[in-house]
Amino acid sequence: MTASPSLQSVNTLVADVVRRHAADPTRMVQILREVQESLDWLSPEAIDALETQLKVPRTKIEGVAGFYSFLYTEPRGRYRILFSDNITDRMLGNEALYERLCKSLWVEPGRMSEDGLVSVGRTSCTGLCDQGPAMLVNNLAIGRLSEARVDQIAELVRAGVPLAEWPAELFAVEDNIRRADILLGSDMQPGQALLAARALAPDEGLQASNMRSWREGLPTGLGGPPAILDEIKHANLRGRGGAGFTTGLKWEACRNAPLQPGQTRIIVCNADEGEPGTFKDRVLLTRQPDLVFEGMTVAAYAVGATRGFLYLRGEYRYLLDPLNAVLARRRAENLLGENILGIPGANFDIEIHLGAGAYVCGEESALIESLEGKRGTPRNRPPFPVTNGYLDQPTIVNNVETFAAAALIALKGGAWYAAIGTKHSAGTKLLSVAGDCARPGIYEYPFGVSVRQVLEDCGAGDVQAVQVSGPSGVCIAPAEFDRVIGFEDIPTAGAFTVFDNSRDMFEVARNYVHFFQHESCGFCTPCRVGTSLLKNLMDKLHRGAGSPYDFAEIEKLNLLLQSMSHCGLGHTACNPVLDTIARFRPAYERRLMQKQFTPAFDLDQALALARQMTGRDDALAHLSTHHGDHA
Ligand SMILES: Cc1cc2nc3c(=O)[nH]c(=O)nc-3n(C[C@H](O)[C@H](O)[C@H](O)COP(=O)(O)O)c2cc1C
Ligand code: SF4
Repeated sequence: MTASPSLQSVNTLVADVVRRHAADPTRMVQILREVQESLDWLSPEAIDALETQLKVPRTKIEGVAGFYSFLYTEPRGRYRILFSDNITDRMLGNEALYERLCKSLWVEPGRMSEDGLVSVGRTSCTGLCDQGPAMLVNNLAIGRLSEARVDQIAELVRAGVPLAEWPAELFAVEDNIRRADILLGSDMQPGQALLAARALAPDEGLQASNMRSWREGLPTGLGGPPAILDEIKHANLRGRGGAGFTTGLKWEACRNAPLQPGQTRIIVCNADEGEPGTFKDRVLLTRQPDLVFEGMTVAAYAVGATRGFLYLRGEYRYLLDPLNAVLARRRAENLLGENILGIPGANFDIEIHLGAGAYVCGEESALIESLEGKRGTPRNRPPFPVTNGYLDQPTIVNNVETFAAAALIALKGGAWYAAIGTKHSAGTKLLSVAGDCARPGIYEYPFGVSVRQVLEDCGAGDVQAVQVSGPSGVCIAPAEFDRVIGFEDIPTAGAFTVFDNSRDMFEVARNYVHFFQHESCGFCTPCRVGTSLLKNLMDKLHRGAGSPYDFAEIEKLNLLLQSMSHCGLGHTACNPVLDTIARFRPAYERRLMQKQFTPAFDLDQALALARQMTGRDDALAHLSTHHGDHA
């Protein structure tokens, strides 16, 4: 067992972190994350110190810490290993590797070793589906796991080798770009799009007023910010994060939102990328970070914002330092900071916030809550972020890919962009292709590409189904492979997961249902209970205890989740089950062994504790309606 740090050293360490964050409680998630990086967990002593130094009640600190799956208020090992548990990891044999590692380290799955050296557990998709199976070690990603790699990792852990000394090759993440188009193939030089945006002002006099408008956030006449907004609108750019909202309208609403004294407008780049099967933002941020940051700066110019955030999912911790280096370079090049490009009052800067393992924080209002240092609970809407976002200020939230496209539109014009793709879906789309195919990776296509074409390009044969846009998207069968990627047919945030005929589509849906149940934030009862019931139901079918009545139960749950849930997670949680029932019903029917209905929630089993406490286990202490589904 490693010795616990002294109270004094905990206080000093916490003081250091708190000072770095100016004792600002809105930075709570970052503070907790950094304290944990040094202490391995958020011990009671660390929380005491935070309470005193931040002047925030301990219950609040614990409430925030308790929300995020990567923040620990119980002891964890010095090495904290989490196996990615997406369906593609399963298809690549992650379970056997998980067991192998646990066995070799003498640690119970999901627990910490007795000597406090290591804990091993599971987590949701880590965004490495093109190079799975994957894991996180102290939040750093390791892909392409094999028996040999797992044994190597076990050896390093047993020998207590510090992570910084592990072979760098273990942490290498490949980009796997298989098809590049305007975004991934762009050779835009840093600052070019901003210069082009500024040049949209018709004359020097107007430029000067537009420059003031950036500082003050006031709309001006023609040229400059209004002109760049027009270009974004003409481009017909729609958001790439899933909902497909028109970007120009969003930006305009933010620009038109009134500011209270002391307020500014805010630009947020959503890099939470938690949808299982999606990893395209990871690659964009690796290969084209300037395009993304430039797009954010163009947005700031268009709406008059002075502050920006990149909300980076915790699983992409390894990108934090390289991205901060890009930001530092852009500051040195006068592309961020004060008087950008020499324009007086053109002030804008970007900081990176790291998430801490909560899929729901990808929902824009939950993301803003998290940015404010709180639990990532989705807000009631309206008001929308464009008027009342980060700290109640007008805020734009856009996906990484949306900002990258905006930079190119500023550079080359809306008409150029609108001519790419289809009438209703302008531009290109990055697809994260994974699963049963020879060439998993990132494919950038003009909108309008058919599913069949993508399958051909990625080397997928004998295909049974494709899950487009992750569990919250759609699952399609071969008869639909001529459908096209685009808002007019199959909209997608980017995931494209291929399943060949050897796969059991029921198990695919069950994995997704487990994901939703795990990621439900629990704020609203329909989703909290509905996703649990759905999971229980699928598990019951898995055990062969299902009956035909279960289809009706699923329908009922779907109605409940769709109509009563507070946010998109609940609304879409039944999608994978409904889609697979509609297309692959035999996969369900062969599991319907029971003629009679048995409830997925086993009330009799739930009363076991009461029986134990009263010392009774006679027939009368059991429910007579119980059918014995204890499996
Ligand atoms: C549960 C949930 C998770 C989401 N995750 C993401 C995400 O990881 N990245 C993203 O850009 N949008 C995500 N969204 C959509 C965002 O709420 C928001 O619509 C999007 O960031 C807007 O950007 P866009 O207009 O550029 O698409 C999610 C929505 C929900 C309901
Ligand atoms: S629908 Fe689910 S994820 Fe969304 S707020 Fe309700 S409980 Fe949370």
